Amino acid sequence: MGKKLVAYFSASGVTSELAKVLAEAASADLYEIKPEVPYTKADLDWQNSRSRSSIEMKDPSSRPAIADKNANIAAYDVVFVGFPIWWYVAPTIINTFLESYDFSGKIIVPFATSGSSGLGKTKEKLLGSVSGTAVWKEGKLLNGRPSKDVFAKWVESLNL
Ligand SMILES: Cc1cc2nc3c(=O)[nH]c(=O)nc-3n(C[C@H](O)[C@H](O)[C@H](O)COP(=O)(O)O)c2cc1C
Repeated sequence: MGKKLVAYFSASGVTSELAKVLAEAASADLYEIKPEVPYTKADLDWQNSRSRSSIEMKDPSSRPAIADKNANIAAYDVVFVGFPIWWYVAPTIINTFLESYDFSGKIIVPFATSGSSGLGKTKEKLLGSVSGTAVWKEGKLLNGRPSKDVFAKWVESLNL
C-alpha cells in the first residue's frame, strides 16, 4: 500500500463531501484543487451559453488557473483525482491541475459526481495532460451518497 492523496475540485460542495469520506476510507491525505478565481453561481449556469463554465468547456484548450501548486505530488504513489462532471467530462481545471505536476510512475484513480452522466470519455480527455507514464485505474462515479463501506470496498478492489 503506497502513500495516497485525494485531490479534488468541487464547485458546489458535492464532490468535496465525498472526497473527505474517500480520504478516510483510503487513509489518504486530502488536497483541494482551488481555482484562482472561484466560480460564482452565474459562472456555473450551464443554461447560459455565455457563462464562464460554458465558455471554458466549449474550448478544450482552456486552462483555468489554479490558486496554488502545493499538492506535493512527488510525495505520493497513488493520486485519486475527483471532480464534478461538466458537459460529460472533467472540468478543464483538472487538465490545469494534471499539467502542473509530474505524474511519472504514479497511479491515478479518477472519481466524479454528476447529475446523472457517467464518466464517459473523461479519461481520454485527461490523458494528454499527464506527463510521464502514469498508470490509470478504472474511475468511479460516486453518486447517491454511497456509504463509507462502499468506498472501502472500492479502494480494496483497486489493489493499490
Ligand atoms: C457547468 C456544469 C455542467 C454540468 N454538466 C453535467 C453533465 O454533463 N452531466 C451531469 O450529469 N451533470 C452535470 N452537471 C452537474 C454536476 O456534475 C453535479 O451537480 C455535481 O455533483 C456537482 O459537484 P460539485 O458540487 O462538487 O461541484 C453539471 C454542472 C455544472 C455546473
